[in-house]
Amino acid sequence: MKKTAEAKYPISDLISRRWSPRIFDPDKLVDIEDVGSLFEAARWAPSCGNEQSWRFIVGVNFDKTHEMIVDTLSDGNKKWAGNCPLLFIALANQPEHGGKPFVHSEHDLGLALQNLLLQAIDLGMYAHLMAGFSPEKARKAFEVPEGNRPLTAGAVGYYGDANKAAVDLKQKDEGLRSRKAFDKFVFSGRWGIPLGI
Ligand SMILES: Cc1cc2nc3c(=O)[nH]c(=O)nc-3n(C[C@H](O)[C@H](O)[C@H](O)COP(=O)(O)O)c2cc1C
Repeated sequence: MKKTAEAKYPISDLISRRWSPRIFDPDKLVDIEDVGSLFEAARWAPSCGNEQSWRFIVGVNFDKTHEMIVDTLSDGNKKWAGNCPLLFIALANQPEHGGKPFVHSEHDLGLALQNLLLQAIDLGMYAHLMAGFSPEKARKAFEVPEGNRPLTAGAVGYYGDANKAAVDLKQKDEGLRSRKAFDKFVFSGRWGIPLGI
């Protein structure tokens, strides 16, 4: 299913085609080479001081780790994300940085995640991020050491058959995508004055 961004200005095809579906095909497994490409894409994200403060715990093709990640998800997310062959927990590593707290961990994890999301599109798959999971459960289940913050869960797979999907998921996937107008977030001169693009 296509939900191409309605862009006012031209943007990269990958950005335009990315969206966050809820209907995934549980029978189409992920090739291990493609799993490599997803995390290779994440690896080549820029990061503050090249700290590369992203970490991932990955469950592939309904293995034990996949099952453990499903257990950490909110009920709403379990309903659809359980069908995704690849699930991950994304963690922000908080290193010592010249004796000062390193404040860019989450920022840089976000950059790595966007690389991963776009790589999924390039591979003919979709990825959907989730705040709806329990960081405490993830920390306990995977024995995550201090200094690493489970921040976001993610699901990756191939688009499924909308005719077989639950009505609410189908409705959500068919819903319109919306974005704020430029004058709400692109300013010039001083705060709140639109750049005028
Ligand atoms: C950090 C983050 C957390 C999110 N958490 C959830 C979630 O728990 N459940 C869900 O269904 N979607 C979740 N989303 C998906 C957003 O709702 C979605 O990206 C947003 O509505 C824009 O839609 P689009 O990705 O299709 O452009 C999350 C996205 C991000 C970036």
